[in-house]
Amino acid sequence: MFITFEGMDGSGKTTQIVQLTDYLRQNGHRVLTTREPGGTAIGDQVRKILLDNKEGEDMHPRAELLLFCASRAQLVGEVITPYLESGGVVICDRFIDSTYAYQGYGHGLNLESLRHIITFATGGLLPDVTLFLDISPRKALERRAKATLFGDEYNRLDDMEMPFHERVYAGYKDLILAQPDRFIVIDADATPDVVQLRIRTALVPYLNLPTQPSEPPRAPKSSSKQKTAPMKKKSPRKDNLS
Ligand code: TMP
Repeated sequence: MFITFEGMDGSGKTTQIVQLTDYLRQNGHRVLTTREPGGTAIGDQVRKILLDNKEGEDMHPRAELLLFCASRAQLVGEVITPYLESGGVVICDRFIDSTYAYQGYGHGLNLESLRHIITFATGGLLPDVTLFLDISPRKALERRAKATLFGDEYNRLDDMEMPFHERVYAGYKDLILAQPDRFIVIDADATPDVVQLRIRTALVPYLNLPTQPSEPPRAPKSSSKQKTAPMKKKSPRKDNLS
């Protein structure tokens, strides 16, 4: 089972992934957690080039795209596919949808060209389920600003202006509309514990989990806003363009 998390910077993905990983392990799943860009020794070097502010200032969007895809190709080949083939659950912090949203909708690169390059990089691998942590671009930037103030890793894309983040957000919404079976939208404008409970509930149809997920400490009741997808799917799933 291949699960990806998507959302604006500041949407809280990292915290949620840590908690979800613990929860899945407690319920008997073998789980590998990774992130993009990065997740391998080569990918971590590419991450530095991509996200380090000083050296990446004038990076052309096409160069940026190819570097994200280079990191992804390495991660899929070295880590994700072997783990999925061994029967484990992979949780990845960002995957192909980030490229469509940021390089496609954000920077305006041609979506059809992106599709070919992304498919080449992944060999056509698609997530079984993608959790989109939904908060508005403005809220996300506010949270992000606070987090970097308190020591979170700063990244070059933090310098982008509000209209860029609005295009990214609109892009995600388009992607979700186009693939409603793969995406689950989680209302992430709530405390981390509430968001975690929403995620656990949403994953019940996909994984062997208690039908009444246990609440993280002090979690209020779950919201009715989340959308759950109905079917279980087998992994690895392939894009038909491969
Ligand atoms: P994060 O690791 O804190 O999520 O930061 C990664 C940054 O890289 C984030 O601003 C989104 C961006 N990004 C892209 O622009 N394209 C991509 O394909 C990926 C994976 C990330």
